[in-house]
Amino acid sequence: MSSIIVVGAQWGDEGKGRIIDALAKKADAVVRFQGGSNAGHTVVVNGEKFVFHLIPSGVLRRGKKCIIGNGVVVDPRELLSEIESLNLRGIKVDSLYLSSNAHVIMPYHRKIEEIEEEQRGKNRIGTTRKGVGPAYVDKAARRGIRAVDLLDKEILNSKLRMSLQFWKNSFELGFSVEDILEEYLEYGRRLEKFIVDTSLIIHELVKEDRTILFEGAQGSLLDVDHGTYPFVTSSNATAGGACTGTGVGPTQIDQVLGVAKAYITRVGEGPFPTEIHNEVGELIQKRGQEYGATTGRARRCGWFDGVGLRYAVRVNGLDGLILTKLDILGGLSRIKICTAYRYRGKVIQDFPLEASHWQECEPVYEEMEGWDDDAFEAKRIEDFPRPIQKYLNRIEEIGGVPILFLSVSAERDNLLALRQDSATLLA
Ligand code: IMP
Repeated sequence: MSSIIVVGAQWGDEGKGRIIDALAKKADAVVRFQGGSNAGHTVVVNGEKFVFHLIPSGVLRRGKKCIIGNGVVVDPRELLSEIESLNLRGIKVDSLYLSSNAHVIMPYHRKIEEIEEEQRGKNRIGTTRKGVGPAYVDKAARRGIRAVDLLDKEILNSKLRMSLQFWKNSFELGFSVEDILEEYLEYGRRLEKFIVDTSLIIHELVKEDRTILFEGAQGSLLDVDHGTYPFVTSSNATAGGACTGTGVGPTQIDQVLGVAKAYITRVGEGPFPTEIHNEVGELIQKRGQEYGATTGRARRCGWFDGVGLRYAVRVNGLDGLILTKLDILGGLSRIKICTAYRYRGKVIQDFPLEASHWQECEPVYEEMEGWDDDAFEAKRIEDFPRPIQKYLNRIEEIGGVPILFLSVSAERDNLLALRQDSATLLA
């Protein structure tokens, strides 16, 4: 019925996993299109927590096609262990499709990333060290290894030689082709049944008028082109990535939704104008359990950044917003919302041009009245206290985009549709 892209509107960790899981109820397929196991998508069902790194978050809904598109970089060890651990929990992964064109993360990619991060010292990016960046480097340099290459010993052997030799010219890696070849051929044998031309499958679904969810990983402000470069990931986490990362044309997309937290967080290094450096930040971190689902690192916490939201709306063409974790701000007497930045005495509405200017950007805040901890006992938005309604309205005004859903807990069914037409996406 429709093709919907769901992307993170901030620096990742907005709660995309639980949103995809909720929307997947009515969908036929969920497709990952970029990133790799740097992602950590959390879904809670009946108090049981699942974290997905590579497998699309639709896997908990029976019969949904779960597709890993060509734009994803896949660590076969991680993928197989994710499949196994789901099996152990009684979830059969029988509708998984892995693009033959998806690039493969090799063990030396992880090692290279570690060495590079160490070498950068205080200028490090703070990556997840999953080898994602170096794998995309190999892809762009046209010496990458794709999923289909794991199925042919001769091809894998020659491609491995080319890639590994290149990196060995710059790094002390301690790997040999022989070390890797048999192990990765074995992964290929185990993954063979999943490896297909996923663009064909998606094309068929589109032709049959099915509902497809394109599940973004990371967030718009981490996009390699549109994010806070160089403190970004190595793929296009914005909506355009859904087309290039799956082989679906832009004319086939019906809707683009952004997920944002009611505040904002960032893991790793990089500019963060609205970061809170006091006990309020610590409180949000603790209440929101803001610790990375992939690396366990504490997330930096800040006030809602309206400049970032406007930017995400623009670069993604967002039709609507899904706001998560509003409950975490409950109990704070005053809440701040950033509407612009001040750069060298001038108020600016958009991101600065240059990476070096970020350090000098200060947030311009509006202060709003807070709400009580138990404000969400009401089940209808009309019954929420006034300060919440005002906060939501202000976010809509600043972003110029409607909030379609509100999530006030991690549990699957706790997603409130704020508009009549959005309700149809769920039921
Ligand atoms: P990489 O993606 O591992 O190369 O890391 C690059 C930057 O993106 C670092 O700041 C990471 O912390 C951040 N990052 C990568 N994946 C995620 C994610 O899923 N959520 C939040 N931040 C992420």
